[in-house]
Amino acid sequence: MAKLSVRLDDRVGTISPMLYGHFAEHLGRCIYEGLWVGEDSPIANTRGVRDDTVAALRKLAAPVIRWPGGCFADDYHWRDGIGPRDERPRRLNVWWHDEESNQFGTHEFIDLCRQVGAAPYICLNVGAGTPEEAAAWVEYCNCARNTSRAQERGLNGSPEPFAVRYWGVGNENWGCGGRFDPDDYAREYRRFACYLRGRSSSPIELVACGHTGPDWNRKFLDAIGDLRMLDHLSIHRYYNCGDAVDFSDTEYYNLFPRALQVEADVVEAATAVALYNRPAKKIGVILDEWGVWHPEARGDSGLYQRNTLRDALTCAAVFDVLNHHADKVTMANIAQTINVLQCLCQTDGAAMWLTPTYHAFALYQPHMGNASVRVDLDDIPTVAAREGDGREVALPVVSASASVDEAGKAAVLTFQNLHLTEPCDCRIRLRGGSIAKATGKLLTARDVRDCNGPEAPRKIRPKRLTLEPKATTLRIELPPHALASVRVVLR
Ligand code: AHR
Repeated sequence: MAKLSVRLDDRVGTISPMLYGHFAEHLGRCIYEGLWVGEDSPIANTRGVRDDTVAALRKLAAPVIRWPGGCFADDYHWRDGIGPRDERPRRLNVWWHDEESNQFGTHEFIDLCRQVGAAPYICLNVGAGTPEEAAAWVEYCNCARNTSRAQERGLNGSPEPFAVRYWGVGNENWGCGGRFDPDDYAREYRRFACYLRGRSSSPIELVACGHTGPDWNRKFLDAIGDLRMLDHLSIHRYYNCGDAVDFSDTEYYNLFPRALQVEADVVEAATAVALYNRPAKKIGVILDEWGVWHPEARGDSGLYQRNTLRDALTCAAVFDVLNHHADKVTMANIAQTINVLQCLCQTDGAAMWLTPTYHAFALYQPHMGNASVRVDLDDIPTVAAREGDGREVALPVVSASASVDEAGKAAVLTFQNLHLTEPCDCRIRLRGGSIAKATGKLLTARDVRDCNGPEAPRKIRPKRLTLEPKATTLRIELPPHALASVRVVLR
Protein backbone atom coordinates (compact mmCIF):
# COMPACT_ATOMS: atom_id res chain seq x y z
CA MET A 1 0.00 0.00 0.00
CA ALA A 2 1.41 3.43 -0.98
CA LYS A 3 0.32 6.54 0.93
CA LEU A 4 0.12 9.89 -0.84
CA SER A 5 -0.71 12.98 1.25
CA VAL A 6 -1.51 16.07 -0.77
CA ARG A 7 -0.77 19.17 1.34
CA LEU A 8 -2.99 21.80 -0.21
CA ASP A 9 -1.75 24.56 2.09
CA ASP A 10 1.93 23.92 1.49
CA ARG A 11 2.58 25.83 -1.73
CA VAL A 12 5.93 25.67 -3.52
CA GLY A 13 5.32 28.21 -6.29
CA THR A 14 3.34 28.74 -9.46
CA ILE A 15 3.80 26.09 -12.15
CA SER A 16 4.54 28.28 -15.13
CA PRO A 17 2.69 26.94 -18.19
CA MET A 18 6.11 27.35 -19.86
CA LEU A 19 7.32 24.18 -18.09
CA TYR A 20 5.33 22.26 -20.70
CA GLY A 21 7.10 23.81 -23.70
CA HIS A 22 8.59 22.55 -26.95
CA PHE A 23 11.76 22.70 -28.99
CA ALA A 24 11.72 22.47 -32.80
CA GLU A 25 14.96 22.45 -34.79
CA HIS A 26 15.78 22.28 -38.51
CA LEU A 27 16.73 18.67 -38.14
CA GLY A 28 15.44 15.48 -39.77
CA ARG A 29 11.69 15.76 -40.35
CA CYS A 30 10.80 18.08 -37.47
CA ILE A 31 10.29 21.33 -39.39
CA TYR A 32 10.04 20.01 -42.96
CA GLU A 33 7.17 17.49 -43.10
CA GLY A 34 6.41 17.68 -39.35
CA LEU A 35 5.40 21.33 -39.17
CA TRP A 36 5.87 22.77 -42.63
CA VAL A 37 4.59 21.09 -45.80
CA GLY A 38 4.31 24.18 -48.02
CA GLU A 39 1.20 25.75 -49.49
CA ASP A 40 1.10 23.45 -52.53
CA SER A 41 1.22 20.23 -50.52
CA PRO A 42 -1.64 17.70 -50.78
CA ILE A 43 -1.31 17.44 -46.97
CA ALA A 44 -3.85 19.78 -45.35
CA ASN A 45 -2.15 23.02 -44.38
CA THR A 46 -2.77 26.66 -43.56
CA ARG A 47 -0.34 28.92 -45.40
CA GLY A 48 2.06 25.96 -45.61
CA VAL A 49 1.89 25.03 -41.91
CA ARG A 50 0.65 21.48 -41.39
CA ASP A 51 -2.88 21.37 -39.93
CA ASP A 52 -2.93 18.03 -38.06
CA THR A 53 0.24 18.57 -36.01
CA VAL A 54 -0.78 22.16 -35.26
CA ALA A 55 -4.19 20.96 -34.06
CA ALA A 56 -2.51 18.40 -31.79
CA LEU A 57 -0.23 21.04 -30.24
CA ARG A 58 -3.11 23.48 -29.89
CA LYS A 59 -5.10 20.90 -27.98
CA LEU A 60 -2.26 20.66 -25.47
CA ALA A 61 -2.17 24.47 -25.14
CA ALA A 62 1.51 24.28 -26.11
CA PRO A 63 2.87 27.41 -24.39
CA VAL A 64 6.14 28.06 -26.23
CA ILE A 65 8.20 26.83 -29.20
CA ARG A 66 11.98 27.27 -29.21
CA TRP A 67 13.49 27.60 -32.71
CA PRO A 68 15.56 27.31 -35.01
CA GLY A 69 17.90 25.10 -32.95
CA GLY A 70 19.81 23.53 -31.25
CA CYS A 71 23.16 23.27 -32.94
CA PHE A 72 21.51 24.55 -36.12
CA ALA A 73 20.98 27.99 -34.51
CA ASP A 74 24.68 28.86 -34.26
CA ASP A 75 25.12 28.38 -38.00
CA TYR A 76 21.83 29.99 -39.10
CA HIS A 77 21.70 33.39 -40.77
CA TRP A 78 18.20 34.75 -40.44
CA ARG A 79 18.29 36.83 -43.62
CA ASP A 80 18.38 33.54 -45.59
CA GLY A 81 14.84 32.84 -44.34
CA ILE A 82 12.97 36.05 -45.21
CA GLY A 83 11.60 37.49 -48.46
CA PRO A 84 10.04 35.66 -51.42
CA ARG A 85 10.44 31.92 -50.86
CA ASP A 86 11.53 31.16 -54.40
CA GLU A 87 14.47 33.55 -54.01
CA ARG A 88 15.78 32.16 -50.75
CA PRO A 89 19.23 30.55 -50.85
CA ARG A 90 19.91 26.86 -50.27
CA ARG A 91 22.57 26.33 -47.62
CA LEU A 92 24.37 23.42 -46.07
CA ASN A 93 23.16 22.43 -42.62
CA VAL A 94 26.60 21.64 -41.22
CA TRP A 95 25.36 19.88 -38.11
CA TRP A 96 22.70 17.64 -39.54
CA HIS A 97 24.18 17.20 -43.02
CA ASP A 98 21.08 18.21 -44.97
CA GLU A 99 20.55 20.98 -47.44
CA GLU A 100 18.54 23.80 -45.93
CA SER A 101 15.98 25.23 -48.33
CA ASN A 102 15.08 28.16 -46.06
CA GLN A 103 11.43 27.79 -47.04
CA PHE A 104 10.61 27.96 -43.34
CA GLY A 105 12.01 31.18 -41.88
CA THR A 106 11.07 33.89 -39.41
CA HIS A 107 7.60 34.76 -40.81
CA GLU A 108 6.65 31.10 -41.17
CA PHE A 109 7.81 30.44 -37.60
CA ILE A 110 5.74 33.30 -36.22
CA ASP A 111 2.73 32.09 -38.22
CA LEU A 112 3.23 28.58 -36.80
CA CYS A 113 3.35 29.95 -33.24
CA ARG A 114 0.21 32.01 -33.80
CA GLN A 115 -1.66 29.03 -35.25
CA VAL A 116 -0.63 26.90 -32.26
CA GLY A 117 -1.21 29.73 -29.74
CA ALA A 118 2.38 29.40 -28.45
CA ALA A 119 4.92 32.09 -27.57
CA PRO A 120 7.86 32.24 -30.00
CA TYR A 121 11.34 31.75 -28.54
CA ILE A 122 14.24 32.43 -30.91
CA CYS A 123 17.79 31.20 -30.40
CA LEU A 124 20.39 33.61 -31.81
CA ASN A 125 23.57 32.72 -33.66
CA VAL A 126 26.59 33.40 -31.43
CA GLY A 127 28.98 30.70 -32.73
CA ALA A 128 29.14 31.80 -36.38
CA GLY A 129 27.32 35.13 -36.11
CA THR A 130 27.94 38.65 -34.90
CA PRO A 131 26.28 40.91 -32.32
CA GLU A 132 25.11 43.13 -35.18
CA GLU A 133 23.41 40.23 -37.02
CA ALA A 134 21.66 39.19 -33.80
CA ALA A 135 20.58 42.73 -32.91
CA ALA A 136 19.30 43.25 -36.46
CA TRP A 137 17.10 40.13 -36.09
CA VAL A 138 15.64 41.48 -32.85
CA GLU A 139 14.97 44.80 -34.59
CA TYR A 140 13.44 43.12 -37.63
CA CYS A 141 11.06 41.16 -35.40
CA ASN A 142 10.24 43.62 -32.65
CA CYS A 143 10.84 47.22 -33.70
CA ALA A 144 7.65 49.30 -33.89
CA ARG A 145 9.46 52.43 -35.17
CA ASN A 146 9.98 53.47 -38.76
CA THR A 147 13.43 51.92 -39.27
CA SER A 148 14.41 50.28 -42.54
CA ARG A 149 14.35 46.85 -40.90
CA ALA A 150 10.86 47.41 -39.50
CA GLN A 151 9.74 48.59 -42.95
CA GLU A 152 11.31 45.51 -44.52
CA ARG A 153 9.26 43.31 -42.16
CA GLY A 154 6.17 45.18 -43.36
CA LEU A 155 7.11 44.69 -47.03
CA ASN A 156 7.45 40.98 -46.25
CA GLY A 157 3.86 40.93 -45.06
CA SER A 158 3.97 41.79 -41.35
CA PRO A 159 3.71 45.50 -40.55
CA GLU A 160 2.90 44.75 -36.89
CA PRO A 161 5.94 43.76 -34.79
CA PHE A 162 6.14 40.13 -33.73
CA ALA A 163 6.90 41.04 -30.08
CA VAL A 164 9.09 37.97 -29.58
CA ARG A 165 9.80 37.92 -25.84
CA TYR A 166 12.32 35.09 -25.42
CA TRP A 167 15.77 35.24 -27.05
CA GLY A 168 18.48 32.66 -26.48
CA VAL A 169 22.02 34.03 -26.77
CA GLY A 170 23.47 30.96 -28.48
CA ASN A 171 23.02 27.25 -27.87
CA GLU A 172 25.43 24.82 -26.19
CA ASN A 173 28.23 27.35 -26.62
CA TRP A 174 30.53 24.99 -24.72
CA GLY A 175 30.07 22.58 -27.70
CA CYS A 176 28.48 23.02 -31.13
CA GLY A 177 27.79 26.72 -30.44
CA GLY A 178 31.42 27.83 -30.85
CA ARG A 179 33.36 25.63 -28.38
CA PHE A 180 33.88 28.50 -25.97
CA ASP A 181 35.19 28.24 -22.44
CA PRO A 182 32.99 29.95 -19.82
CA ASP A 183 35.12 33.12 -19.69
CA ASP A 184 35.14 33.57 -23.45
CA TYR A 185 31.41 32.89 -23.67
CA ALA A 186 30.77 35.46 -20.91
CA ARG A 187 32.76 38.02 -22.92
CA GLU A 188 30.78 37.21 -26.08
CA TYR A 189 27.51 37.13 -24.16
CA ARG A 190 28.12 40.66 -22.85
CA ARG A 191 28.90 41.94 -26.35
CA PHE A 192 25.70 40.41 -27.75
CA ALA A 193 23.43 41.32 -24.82
CA CYS A 194 24.55 44.95 -24.89
CA TYR A 195 22.84 45.56 -28.24
CA LEU A 196 19.70 43.41 -28.04
CA ARG A 197 17.23 45.07 -25.65
CA GLY A 198 17.57 48.51 -27.25
CA ARG A 199 16.41 47.17 -30.63
CA SER A 200 13.08 45.89 -29.33
CA SER A 201 9.93 47.96 -28.80
CA SER A 202 8.52 45.32 -26.45
CA PRO A 203 10.09 43.72 -23.35
CA ILE A 204 12.48 40.86 -24.08
CA GLU A 205 14.02 38.20 -21.86
CA LEU A 206 17.52 36.91 -22.54
CA VAL A 207 18.54 33.31 -22.01
CA ALA A 208 22.21 32.54 -21.41
CA CYS A 209 23.74 29.17 -22.18
CA GLY A 210 24.52 27.22 -19.04
CA HIS A 211 25.70 23.66 -18.58
CA THR A 212 25.22 20.66 -16.32
CA GLY A 213 27.99 20.26 -13.75
CA PRO A 214 28.91 23.21 -11.53
CA ASP A 215 32.02 24.52 -13.30
CA TRP A 216 30.62 26.22 -16.35
CA ASN A 217 27.73 27.96 -14.59
CA ARG A 218 29.80 29.36 -11.72
CA LYS A 219 32.65 30.50 -13.97
CA PHE A 220 30.25 32.06 -16.45
CA LEU A 221 28.23 33.87 -13.78
CA ASP A 222 31.43 35.08 -12.09
CA ALA A 223 32.80 36.41 -15.35
CA ILE A 224 29.57 38.03 -16.48
CA GLY A 225 29.67 40.44 -13.55
CA ASP A 226 26.48 42.38 -14.24
CA LEU A 227 23.55 40.01 -13.92
CA ARG A 228 21.09 42.58 -15.27
CA MET A 229 22.23 41.27 -18.64
CA LEU A 230 20.45 37.94 -18.31
CA ASP A 231 17.03 36.68 -17.28
CA HIS A 232 17.44 32.91 -17.47
CA LEU A 233 20.22 30.34 -17.48
CA SER A 234 19.58 27.34 -19.71
CA ILE A 235 20.64 23.71 -19.27
CA HIS A 236 20.10 20.54 -21.35
CA ARG A 237 19.71 16.92 -20.28
CA TYR A 238 19.36 13.81 -22.47
CA TYR A 239 19.43 10.18 -21.30
CA ASN A 240 18.96 6.61 -22.50
CA CYS A 241 19.31 3.00 -21.41
CA GLY A 242 19.17 0.10 -23.85
CA ASP A 243 17.22 -0.04 -27.08
CA ALA A 244 14.24 2.22 -27.79
CA VAL A 245 11.82 -0.74 -27.88
CA ASP A 246 13.70 -4.00 -27.20
CA PHE A 247 14.97 -2.95 -23.77
CA SER A 248 15.34 -5.46 -20.94
CA ASP A 249 13.43 -5.14 -17.67
CA THR A 250 16.67 -4.00 -16.00
CA GLU A 251 17.15 -1.34 -18.66
CA TYR A 252 13.55 -0.25 -18.15
CA TYR A 253 14.19 0.50 -14.48
CA ASN A 254 17.66 1.95 -15.08
CA LEU A 255 16.29 4.64 -17.36
CA PHE A 256 14.45 6.33 -14.47
CA PRO A 257 17.46 7.37 -12.34
CA ARG A 258 19.01 8.77 -15.51
CA ALA A 259 15.90 10.83 -16.27
CA LEU A 260 15.67 11.92 -12.63
CA GLN A 261 19.18 13.37 -12.93
CA VAL A 262 17.22 16.42 -14.12
CA GLU A 263 16.51 17.17 -10.47
CA ALA A 264 20.20 17.44 -9.56
CA ASP A 265 20.80 19.53 -12.71
CA VAL A 266 18.03 21.99 -11.84
CA VAL A 267 19.08 22.29 -8.20
CA GLU A 268 22.71 22.77 -9.14
CA ALA A 269 21.94 25.48 -11.73
CA ALA A 270 19.52 27.20 -9.33
CA THR A 271 22.13 27.09 -6.54
CA ALA A 272 24.74 28.67 -8.81
CA VAL A 273 22.29 31.36 -9.85
CA ALA A 274 21.20 31.99 -6.24
CA LEU A 275 24.76 32.97 -5.33
CA TYR A 276 24.48 35.90 -7.72
CA ASN A 277 20.76 36.70 -7.59
CA ARG A 278 19.76 40.00 -6.04
CA PRO A 279 16.24 40.48 -4.58
CA ALA A 280 15.42 42.90 -7.37
CA LYS A 281 16.54 40.51 -10.09
CA LYS A 282 15.72 36.83 -10.02
CA ILE A 283 17.26 34.67 -12.72
CA GLY A 284 15.33 31.55 -13.65
CA VAL A 285 16.56 28.14 -14.77
CA ILE A 286 15.36 26.92 -18.16
CA LEU A 287 15.59 23.26 -19.10
CA ASP A 288 15.88 24.14 -22.77
CA GLU A 289 16.28 20.63 -24.18
CA TRP A 290 15.43 17.42 -22.41
CA GLY A 291 14.22 13.91 -23.04
CA VAL A 292 15.17 10.36 -23.99
CA TRP A 293 17.72 10.07 -26.79
CA HIS A 294 17.76 6.42 -27.82
CA PRO A 295 20.77 4.91 -29.63
CA GLU A 296 18.66 4.40 -32.78
CA ALA A 297 18.26 8.19 -33.18
CA ARG A 298 21.32 9.01 -35.23
CA GLY A 299 22.23 12.04 -37.29
CA ASP A 300 21.93 10.14 -40.58
CA SER A 301 18.36 9.13 -39.76
CA GLY A 302 17.30 12.62 -38.69
CA LEU A 303 17.26 11.61 -34.99
CA TYR A 304 14.01 9.69 -35.48
CA GLN A 305 13.26 7.14 -32.79
CA ARG A 306 10.38 4.95 -31.76
CA ASN A 307 8.54 6.07 -28.65
CA THR A 308 7.09 3.57 -26.15
CA LEU A 309 5.06 3.79 -22.97
CA ARG A 310 8.41 3.71 -21.07
CA ASP A 311 9.24 7.11 -22.61
CA ALA A 312 5.90 8.53 -21.46
CA LEU A 313 6.51 7.28 -17.91
CA THR A 314 9.97 8.87 -17.74
CA CYS A 315 8.45 12.07 -19.14
CA ALA A 316 5.94 12.05 -16.27
CA ALA A 317 8.73 11.49 -13.73
CA VAL A 318 10.53 14.57 -15.11
CA PHE A 319 7.32 16.60 -14.98
CA ASP A 320 7.00 15.69 -11.29
CA VAL A 321 10.52 17.06 -10.73
CA LEU A 322 9.69 20.26 -12.62
CA ASN A 323 6.47 20.74 -10.65
CA HIS A 324 8.35 20.19 -7.36
CA HIS A 325 10.84 22.90 -8.39
CA ALA A 326 8.29 25.31 -9.83
CA ASP A 327 9.92 28.09 -7.79
CA LYS A 328 13.20 27.71 -9.71
CA VAL A 329 12.35 26.50 -13.22
CA THR A 330 10.94 29.16 -15.55
CA MET A 331 10.63 27.09 -18.72
CA ALA A 332 11.30 23.59 -20.08
CA ASN A 333 11.23 22.47 -23.71
CA ILE A 334 11.13 18.82 -24.67
CA ALA A 335 13.29 17.72 -27.61
CA GLN A 336 11.78 17.75 -30.16
CA THR A 337 8.15 18.44 -31.02
CA ILE A 338 7.60 16.31 -34.17
CA ASN A 339 9.50 13.31 -35.64
CA VAL A 340 12.74 13.96 -33.74
CA LEU A 341 13.87 12.33 -30.45
CA GLN A 342 11.17 12.26 -27.73
CA CYS A 343 8.58 13.93 -29.90
CA LEU A 344 4.85 14.33 -29.32
CA CYS A 345 3.69 13.53 -32.85
CA GLN A 346 5.12 11.40 -35.61
CA THR A 347 4.31 11.54 -39.30
CA ASP A 348 4.80 9.40 -42.34
CA GLY A 349 3.78 11.50 -45.31
CA ALA A 350 0.12 12.33 -44.78
CA ALA A 351 -0.25 9.96 -41.79
CA MET A 352 0.10 11.45 -38.29
CA TRP A 353 -0.13 9.76 -34.89
CA LEU A 354 0.36 10.85 -31.30
CA THR A 355 3.13 9.27 -29.25
CA PRO A 356 2.66 8.02 -25.67
CA THR A 357 4.68 11.09 -24.62
CA TYR A 358 1.94 13.28 -26.11
CA HIS A 359 -0.54 11.63 -23.77
CA ALA A 360 1.74 12.20 -20.76
CA PHE A 361 1.68 15.91 -21.68
CA ALA A 362 -2.13 15.79 -21.90
CA LEU A 363 -2.40 14.22 -18.43
CA TYR A 364 -0.11 16.87 -16.88
CA GLN A 365 -1.60 19.82 -18.76
CA PRO A 366 -4.14 20.64 -15.96
CA HIS A 367 -1.20 21.66 -13.71
CA MET A 368 -0.36 24.59 -15.99
CA GLY A 369 -0.65 27.89 -14.09
CA ASN A 370 -1.65 26.21 -10.81
CA ALA A 371 0.28 26.49 -7.53
CA SER A 372 2.49 23.45 -6.97
CA VAL A 373 1.79 21.89 -3.55
CA ARG A 374 3.75 19.31 -1.59
CA VAL A 375 2.89 15.62 -1.74
CA ASP A 376 4.25 13.41 1.06
CA LEU A 377 4.90 9.84 -0.07
CA ASP A 378 5.00 7.07 2.56
CA ASP A 379 5.36 3.29 2.41
CA ILE A 380 6.36 3.38 -1.24
CA PRO A 381 7.81 0.07 -2.48
CA THR A 382 11.17 0.31 -4.22
CA VAL A 383 12.98 -1.64 -6.94
CA ALA A 384 16.73 -1.92 -7.46
CA ALA A 385 18.06 0.26 -10.28
CA ARG A 386 21.36 1.81 -11.33
CA GLU A 387 22.38 5.39 -11.97
CA GLY A 388 24.21 6.25 -15.22
CA ASP A 389 27.56 5.87 -13.37
CA GLY A 390 26.64 2.35 -12.20
CA ARG A 391 25.76 3.21 -8.58
CA GLU A 392 22.89 1.12 -7.24
CA VAL A 393 19.78 2.99 -6.05
CA ALA A 394 16.46 1.98 -4.52
CA LEU A 395 13.99 3.46 -7.00
CA PRO A 396 10.59 4.30 -5.48
CA VAL A 397 7.91 2.87 -7.77
CA VAL A 398 5.57 5.81 -7.18
CA SER A 399 6.31 9.33 -8.33
CA ALA A 400 3.77 12.13 -7.86
CA SER A 401 3.11 15.85 -8.00
CA ALA A 402 0.08 17.98 -7.17
CA SER A 403 -1.23 21.49 -7.64
CA VAL A 404 -4.16 23.68 -6.77
CA ASP A 405 -5.77 26.41 -8.85
CA GLU A 406 -5.56 30.07 -7.92
CA ALA A 407 -9.07 30.19 -6.45
CA GLY A 408 -8.38 27.09 -4.32
CA LYS A 409 -11.43 25.40 -5.86
CA ALA A 410 -9.80 22.49 -7.70
CA ALA A 411 -6.67 20.38 -7.27
CA VAL A 412 -4.76 18.11 -9.64
CA LEU A 413 -2.76 15.04 -8.65
CA THR A 414 -0.58 13.16 -11.12
CA PHE A 415 1.11 9.94 -10.03
CA GLN A 416 2.45 6.76 -11.49
CA ASN A 417 3.31 3.19 -10.72
CA LEU A 418 6.57 2.30 -12.41
CA HIS A 419 6.56 -1.33 -11.34
CA LEU A 420 6.61 -3.67 -14.34
CA THR A 421 4.51 -6.46 -12.87
CA GLU A 422 2.93 -5.41 -9.55
CA PRO A 423 -0.12 -3.16 -9.23
CA CYS A 424 0.07 -0.46 -6.58
CA ASP A 425 -2.69 0.20 -4.07
CA CYS A 426 -2.55 4.00 -3.69
CA ARG A 427 -4.23 5.62 -0.66
CA ILE A 428 -4.56 9.32 -1.29
CA ARG A 429 -5.36 11.79 1.47
CA LEU A 430 -6.07 15.48 0.99
CA ARG A 431 -4.83 17.77 3.76
CA GLY A 432 -6.33 21.26 3.86
CA GLY A 433 -9.48 20.53 1.86
CA SER A 434 -12.15 17.94 1.15
CA ILE A 435 -13.39 16.33 -2.03
CA ALA A 436 -16.69 17.32 -3.68
CA LYS A 437 -16.02 15.41 -6.90
CA ALA A 438 -13.11 13.57 -8.51
CA THR A 439 -12.47 12.61 -12.14
CA GLY A 440 -9.44 10.89 -13.55
CA LYS A 441 -7.56 9.50 -16.52
CA LEU A 442 -5.20 6.57 -16.81
CA LEU A 443 -2.42 5.92 -19.32
CA THR A 444 -1.05 2.41 -19.64
CA ALA A 445 -0.62 -0.40 -22.18
CA ARG A 446 -0.62 -4.15 -22.21
CA ASP A 447 3.15 -4.08 -22.77
CA VAL A 448 5.43 -1.23 -21.69
CA ARG A 449 7.25 -1.68 -25.02
CA ASP A 450 4.12 -0.82 -27.02
CA CYS A 451 4.20 2.15 -29.41
CA ASN A 452 1.64 3.96 -31.52
CA GLY A 453 2.25 3.85 -35.27
CA PRO A 454 0.55 4.32 -38.63
CA GLU A 455 -1.19 0.90 -38.39
CA ALA A 456 -2.29 1.36 -34.77
CA PRO A 457 -2.30 5.12 -34.06
CA ARG A 458 -4.52 4.79 -30.96
CA LYS A 459 -3.06 1.67 -29.38
CA ILE A 460 -1.86 3.73 -26.41
CA ARG A 461 -4.20 6.47 -25.27
CA PRO A 462 -5.69 7.62 -21.98
CA LYS A 463 -8.78 5.92 -20.56
CA ARG A 464 -11.27 7.29 -18.05
CA LEU A 465 -10.71 6.25 -14.39
CA THR A 466 -13.75 5.46 -12.29
CA LEU A 467 -13.29 6.99 -8.85
CA GLU A 468 -15.19 6.68 -5.59
CA PRO A 469 -13.85 9.37 -3.25
CA LYS A 470 -14.66 9.66 0.45
CA ALA A 471 -14.59 13.06 2.26
CA THR A 472 -10.80 13.54 2.17
CA THR A 473 -9.55 10.24 0.82
CA LEU A 474 -9.39 8.36 -2.43
CA ARG A 475 -8.19 4.84 -3.08
CA ILE A 476 -6.92 3.84 -6.51
CA GLU A 477 -5.27 0.62 -7.57
CA LEU A 478 -2.83 1.57 -10.30
CA PRO A 479 -1.97 -1.24 -12.69
CA PRO A 480 1.72 -1.93 -13.45
CA HIS A 481 3.54 0.66 -15.60
CA ALA A 482 0.70 3.19 -15.45
CA LEU A 483 0.26 6.91 -15.09
CA ALA A 484 -2.82 8.63 -13.63
CA SER A 485 -4.11 12.16 -13.49
CA VAL A 486 -6.89 13.03 -11.03
CA ARG A 487 -8.77 16.31 -10.88
CA VAL A 488 -10.53 17.04 -7.61
CA VAL A 489 -13.22 19.68 -7.15
CA LEU A 490 -12.75 20.94 -3.60
CA ARG A 491 -15.53 21.55 -1.16
O1 AHR B 1 18.32 18.02 -30.02
C1 AHR B 1 19.41 17.63 -30.79
C2 AHR B 1 20.70 18.38 -30.43
O2 AHR B 1 21.07 18.08 -29.12
C3 AHR B 1 20.60 19.89 -30.43
O3 AHR B 1 20.78 20.44 -31.69
C4 AHR B 1 21.72 20.29 -29.52
O4 AHR B 1 21.49 21.50 -28.86
C5 AHR B 1 21.84 19.12 -28.57
O5 AHR B 1 23.14 18.69 -28.44
